Amino acid sequence: MERTNEAVKDLLQSEALNREVIVKGWVRTRRGKKSVNFIALNDGSTIHNIQIVVEVDQFDEDLLKSVTTGAAIGVRGTLVASQGKGQHVEIQASEITLYGEANPNEYPLQKKGHSLEFLREIAHLRFRTNTFGAVTRLRHAMSFAIHKYFNDHRFYYLHTPIITGSDAEGAGEMFRVTTLNMENPPGRQNGGIDFSQDFFGKETNLTVSGQLEAELGAMALSKVYTFGPTFRAENSNTPRHLAEFWMVEPEMAFYDNDDNMDLAEDFTQYLVGYALENCYDDLEFLNNMYDNQLLDRLRFVVDNTYERITYTRAVEILEGADQKWEFPVEWGVDLQAEHEKYLVEQYFKKPVIVVDYPREIKAFYMKQNEDGQTVRAMDVLFPKIGEVIGGSQREEVYSKLNQRIEELGIPKEQLWWYLETRKYGTAPHSGFGLGFERLMLFISGLSNIRDVIPFPRTPNNAEF
Ligand code: 4AD
Ligand code: MG
Repeated sequence: MERTNEAVKDLLQSEALNREVIVKGWVRTRRGKKSVNFIALNDGSTIHNIQIVVEVDQFDEDLLKSVTTGAAIGVRGTLVASQGKGQHVEIQASEITLYGEANPNEYPLQKKGHSLEFLREIAHLRFRTNTFGAVTRLRHAMSFAIHKYFNDHRFYYLHTPIITGSDAEGAGEMFRVTTLNMENPPGRQNGGIDFSQDFFGKETNLTVSGQLEAELGAMALSKVYTFGPTFRAENSNTPRHLAEFWMVEPEMAFYDNDDNMDLAEDFTQYLVGYALENCYDDLEFLNNMYDNQLLDRLRFVVDNTYERITYTRAVEILEGADQKWEFPVEWGVDLQAEHEKYLVEQYFKKPVIVVDYPREIKAFYMKQNEDGQTVRAMDVLFPKIGEVIGGSQREEVYSKLNQRIEELGIPKEQLWWYLETRKYGTAPHSGFGLGFERLMLFISGLSNIRDVIPFPRTPNNAEF
């Protein structure tokens, strides 16, 4: 059969009826009586299937027997107004080509309604489900919208390295990259491994963030962003953490932290609005299937401004809350998911941006406030998710940044180039990181981060 097939999505919306069409995809179901069969065919272009009407006596019996759930077929036929309910058009089949059968006794997706946990075990096939089709299309739409937003606002897309020699967050949670023979690595005289003999002549790791390199770009192009995979070897087996996740990191010269927050708010509202406008069918499906408040929650975020409070105020609220915490709160501790959720869902009932965190719990590069205790950090907290964005104004004063790096004992040979931006034409600047999968959790209404990325990397899991 020719390659001139049309997408199911286009056919379902087509006004040009009574013409010959070709459609190709995977069978969702075949049902019907002796004389007429109905095939529900899906090609991934939409959550909806197209109905193929088959006059049984016009086709080979063995061929039709092989048209079972999961099989790949091509259909030539006439696109007509549908006789039945539930669809506007259907195809009267004149020719069917079987590309690949799916043995009904073995095909794992023979029946509907599998749990998300089970689908994770068959990640190689779960694209075929309604849920994962919707998630995949939404990921695509959100990626596209991210590039569109930044392009429309004169940001330049910067490709930052995946293999790095520095620890951008200073948290020491990195995956090492090496070509040394790990069974017998070259040693140094005073003990340890001699990485000068490694591929890059130094110790290297997978990046935890593209921020430091993005800052270099912002110091020339004014507004840049990165959007790529980042890696963290934190052993947190939670529904919100991945070892490999995608991060969007805008970085803007001449922005202070208020400008930074304005951008974060406008950007996230744009993305949610884009999903509502362009992905309604998929969102409606997810709303009906998993979370019947999803659509309301999405609209709510677009329609309301975010609350902005200081960390100190957040701690006061949490200390005064009539609530038992698993992790007790006091000034100086990092906020946990339970605290973030309380602020967003119970107290303010809208997204919250928390600013001015204690310097001891935040990264070395953040701009220090005059109080000597806090830094100009800002985290955006969303309902159901908690932290979706982490960002800050950056310390642009050479002496202060240098002092902080020394205080924390960060090896300067890793960061000399970063410090140089503060020597030559330094300028106030700010930026943030949006966890793409955290955003996808919010947009999809699903509750486990493993279900919003095709191939999740988590402790003890890298099968597919
Ligand atoms: O708050 P984080 O650690 O900030 C940074 O990495 C900064 N360099 C960003 C910047 O200012 N350019 O991470 C940013 C976001 C978090 O708010 C969260 O949404 C997401 O990345 N994130 C994770 N998502 C999934 N799995 C993990 N293990 C994550 N760790 C962080
Ligand atoms: Mg953070």
